[in-house]
Amino acid sequence: MRALEIGDAAAVAALVSDPEVIKQTISMTTPFHEGEAERWIRQELEVEDQKHRVLVVEEVRSKALVGTVSVHVKRRFLRRWGTIGYWIGKPYWGRGYGTQALKAFVPYCFDVLEISRFQARVFESNQASQRVLENNGFRRTGRIRLFVPKRGGWRRILLYRLKKPS
Ligand SMILES: CC(C)(COP(=O)(O)OP(=O)(O)OC[C@H]1O[C@@H](n2cnc3c(N)ncnc32)[C@H](O)[C@@H]1OP(=O)(O)O)[C@@H](O)C(=O)NCCC(=O)NCCS
Repeated sequence: MRALEIGDAAAVAALVSDPEVIKQTISMTTPFHEGEAERWIRQELEVEDQKHRVLVVEEVRSKALVGTVSVHVKRRFLRRWGTIGYWIGKPYWGRGYGTQALKAFVPYCFDVLEISRFQARVFESNQASQRVLENNGFRRTGRIRLFVPKRGGWRRILLYRLKKPS
């Protein structure tokens, strides 16, 4: 995993222009083409500090960009809570990359960003993402209905949490 760079726009666009990738994310609304990918990367980098971090997931052998993982941190009382987000490009699904990316990213967030709790929200239909979270120790804590404009209606969302091991 490594820092995101403006030069990643073409590789990001090649993967996030696939509606199948976008469909399952709650925050990304439309597929990206190169200009939008560049704007997205600029926005991500502008807000990057102790409250927001995004990293590229690269394939070890080919060095190809296969996805990204990110966290947005909010302070609640004395604790720092991270909301995690991630995507892996469709050609790379099912190879364990999503699971491995969080295996590296979660301890990094605990240790470097001093996050003490994670939360995640996943469409009930997104079984792959639920497995990625469960493989990394996240615990399901609830189920809500949320109005999701890009899906044009109410959708069931599963809530997950993970606490820093003491
Ligand atoms: C969710 C996502 C990151 C998973 O990435 P991945 O690299 O394919 O995940 P992994 O290879 O680590 O697989 C994780 C588990 O999901 C399972 N899985 C993979 N694709 C699946 C599918 N289409 N349906 C059901 N399970 C699936 C795998 O078998 C594996 O299960 P296991 O741990 O029980 O063996 C990827 O599908 C993706 O980016 N989807 C679109 C964006 C998205 O959903 N982001 C997350 C929003 S909350």
